[in-house]
Amino acid sequence: MKNHLYKAKKILDKNWNGKFTVPSIHLYPHQWNWDSAFIAIGYSRYDTDRAIQELKSLFDAQWKNGMLPHIVFDKNNLGKYFPEPDFWKTELSKNAPENHLTSGITQPPIHAYAVLKIYENSKDKKKVKEFLKWIYPKLVKLHRYLYLERNPDDNGLVYIIHPWESGMDNSPMWDPVLKRIDLSQVKLPDFERKDNRIVDPEQRPGDDDYKRYIYLVDIFRKNRYEDRKIFHECPFIVFDPLFNSVLAASNKALMKIADIIGENCRQAEEWYLTTSRSMRDLLYDNNRGIFYAYDYIEKKQIKVETSAGFMPLFGGVASHSQALKLLEYMNSASFCQIHEDNCFAIPNYDKTKKDFSTKNYWRGPVWININWMLYQGLKRYRFKQKAEHLEKTILELPVRFGFYEYFDSRFGRGYGTKDFSWTAALFIDLFYDYENSKKVGKNIGFFIQILRNEIVANPDGNAISIKSPDEIFFEFNMLSNLIIKKYVKNGSVDYRGIKLSPEYKLFQNIAGKLSIFDPFSLGENEKKAFLINLYNMMVIDFILKMKVKKSVREVDGFFTKIKYRLGKEKLSLKDIEQILKSFKEKDKIIVSLVRGTQSSPPLRFVSPENPLFDINGAVKDFVGSSEVLIFPEEKTVMVSELLKWYRDIFNDAGKIKQFLKEYVSDDRKREFLEKEENPELLYLPYDWYLNN
Ligand code: DGY
Repeated sequence: MKNHLYKAKKILDKNWNGKFTVPSIHLYPHQWNWDSAFIAIGYSRYDTDRAIQELKSLFDAQWKNGMLPHIVFDKNNLGKYFPEPDFWKTELSKNAPENHLTSGITQPPIHAYAVLKIYENSKDKKKVKEFLKWIYPKLVKLHRYLYLERNPDDNGLVYIIHPWESGMDNSPMWDPVLKRIDLSQVKLPDFERKDNRIVDPEQRPGDDDYKRYIYLVDIFRKNRYEDRKIFHECPFIVFDPLFNSVLAASNKALMKIADIIGENCRQAEEWYLTTSRSMRDLLYDNNRGIFYAYDYIEKKQIKVETSAGFMPLFGGVASHSQALKLLEYMNSASFCQIHEDNCFAIPNYDKTKKDFSTKNYWRGPVWININWMLYQGLKRYRFKQKAEHLEKTILELPVRFGFYEYFDSRFGRGYGTKDFSWTAALFIDLFYDYENSKKVGKNIGFFIQILRNEIVANPDGNAISIKSPDEIFFEFNMLSNLIIKKYVKNGSVDYRGIKLSPEYKLFQNIAGKLSIFDPFSLGENEKKAFLINLYNMMVIDFILKMKVKKSVREVDGFFTKIKYRLGKEKLSLKDIEQILKSFKEKDKIIVSLVRGTQSSPPLRFVSPENPLFDINGAVKDFVGSSEVLIFPEEKTVMVSELLKWYRDIFNDAGKIKQFLKEYVSDDRKREFLEKEENPELLYLPYDWYLNN
């Protein structure tokens, strides 16, 4: 993937014109508002100066009332895009900046969020602090503009006046509102599109969409871009869940920025709280488990399900129970389930709808910026497994199909313009994140505790109540199952919760009885399941007993010196692993074991009745996570280095290919694994961070 990082940087270089970065040279030859923020996030990973310059040039064109225009035109590059300044006529507004040509509307205000990222990723904090001081009042001015001019009920819900302001131009979400503009009745100014001469019209908004877009711009010009007048005349006044979530996320960032430069952050906090509260109250639908846009004119939710409806995860707006419902809907056949065949997460529109399109702009394809924001949101709510599902999408799509504007949600093919800046920038950001987490995870090498002698972690503290082996087996299973059910969500283990739980107390009692239990008297299935569950539960118990903070690597001897008495023996994790290796399905079992790390599959209880079912489930989870990346177009397979440690089992690329084939849920990947004799095999560093 390293050479794709290089390719991504080259794309940004190509699209950089010395002052800012165009989204794409041919289709979008000017500076776009939220594009630049995403682009700056990409730059912040390796070129702070450029990241700063990107946003400086955007904010130089901020309007006097604080509005940040959605396009800043490059005077030297006019004539290639529509609509340009001659159409917008923003000079009619008293608020338009003197020295810049801009459009007259805005876009999702992700800038404070991006600015904070620049600071966090920079090495020279002092220098970036100067930039923070420069941009902070401008950010406040932008937010204040939104809360003063676009917040009609004073409840923190900010409206947009044009689909272009949502960033999701022709999303089906806007259809019901735009229908209000009866094209047979309205008078339109003359105009000529340019976009559909550059990109296949099948992938772009329709002509009727454009007519309505232009009709709206005409209203704005006629009203000299005065917000209050537009508010009364514009047929498109909506609360967009994406726009408001992004604003919430940026308010949070603004609070942190204020803190860094010693400003008062109370205002941003109040904005954050009111916007979030109103979103939860007015935009959420509990039956469907999604947030909807809200039509202010008809005072009702627009019941169209798009990825915007999940954005409250990004904004940290959704309550815990709302977040769980969002996850449930997001991870369904509507938006591509983990392990679903031939499907890339997450398409922009519910793919079970009749008018879903895999290739038309915002009517179904997969967008990298949306997935990137949702990935951040899923991480924020600790939905690890789904977050990794999106992480995989963001890494795989550009590598396999190129750095396109958007991608076919079924086949992955790239659409729109190629060499698209935010696809490159966010790939870069995620790549660094991915590599760093793995590197840091790997480098948790210094041991805080060095065990010289063995420790027996399951003393029998309760010698009086002797139990029968059957009872021990039954209770061990019952308690392990209960603990996993209650304290493991989406692959994240709530170690604190377990520690304080009554179940853990009981588990320790029963673990103390294992010295009178002989697992080798069990039947084959029961033994297999018992030993895997025992391994996984021992890991939890050791993490708690050794007070592990970040990684099991803090304890030298974690896998070898800490032991459980089991029957007549004392066994470490390594010893149990050794026994497990004698089973026929040793390859699957080794992969399914949960070592208390981020790179482990989500913890599940293995049922003694049908252990293979659960083992297969765990392996499928592993193969479906970002621990396994398969790039058929590049003839490359990348797998966790775990498989390298077990060379005795996974001895060569052929064996790994065979192993993976059974679990991939994408036809092209399966076909590739079947046909390709010699795929290139690369190992991904193991992430040792705790799976909490
Ligand atoms: C376009 O031209 O399609 C842009 O999305 C408008 O901002």
